[in-house]
Amino acid sequence: MPVRVILDTDTGVDDALAILLAMRSPEIRVEAITGVCGNTPLENCIRNIHLTLSVLDARVTPVVAPGEDRPLVRELAYAGEIHGDDGLGGVTSQVDADGRRTYPDPVQRPSTVHAADLIPDLAGRYPGELVLVAVGPLTNVARAVMKDPDRMRGLREIIIMGGAFETGGNVSPVAEFNIHADPHAAQIVCDSGIPLVFVPLDVTRQAFLDAGTIDHFAAEAGARAVFVRDCTARYVAFHRQNRGVNGCFLHDPLAVAVAAREDLVTTVPARVDVETAGDLTTGMTVSDLRSDRWGEPNARVCTAVDVQAFTTLFEERVLA
Ligand code: BDR
Ligand code: CA
Repeated sequence: MPVRVILDTDTGVDDALAILLAMRSPEIRVEAITGVCGNTPLENCIRNIHLTLSVLDARVTPVVAPGEDRPLVRELAYAGEIHGDDGLGGVTSQVDADGRRTYPDPVQRPSTVHAADLIPDLAGRYPGELVLVAVGPLTNVARAVMKDPDRMRGLREIIIMGGAFETGGNVSPVAEFNIHADPHAAQIVCDSGIPLVFVPLDVTRQAFLDAGTIDHFAAEAGARAVFVRDCTARYVAFHRQNRGVNGCFLHDPLAVAVAAREDLVTTVPARVDVETAGDLTTGMTVSDLRSDRWGEPNARVCTAVDVQAFTTLFEERVLA
């Protein structure tokens, strides 16, 4: 029986790859995809979710619901320099040889139900069963916890792509983007009493997709691989210039893979909190993975990943 999943996403490039992986994973049944501002404005997220689903030609598609268009407290800060102004590396304005848009705007419309209502509704419908995979800032999740903490505690767990524990951050020396974008929301989630699994930069930086692999599969001309090549081109260029690697990190797909195949990672129990006030350290995930001295564990934190197994799974399900 596949695990029921909601994917909450600020649909940038690696989020789109996470959607493809979730939809192509037999261990997962995607009940809903909810959008939150983060990499790109909310309306782009919703468009990008529909556009990514259209690449799949799936018989049944999940409900798509819009969520929050700004963080709880912090100022908005998008990541256009990494994901492009459209959030998908510019593919929405890409044109074919005949001048037609390669990826025209999808006609589908999102649900009229807000993500912060839909998530607790589904948690209440499937108590103890539903896994929420959050791969953007935690604003929708925190709003849902504030609205309906009891039904939210019916979630089986929340798998969070976020944080940097024993490695440096990616928006500051100590903070990772999703947590930094809405640290107040992240702390509300940490205090929610819902079982949490953090999939931080410590492991997602090992989940690497090589540029040559993308080109190899795209040359075989499968629609998914071509879409992956088109939407990652700019993202790969960013990695080349700023991270010194010829390819890109699969941050969000790894969080989806943990929902499908937890055996791919090693976790340790830990108390995790988030710095919300520091001038220099806002968005830092504060924990002590070596002991429980920081407090009673509220989460499991991924500390290692079977890189080869993950890479094979991603290639077989998304690119091949
Ligand atoms: C996270 O930040 C976003 O830019 C990515 O989509 C991923 O969710 C990595 O820090
Ligand atoms: Ca994301």
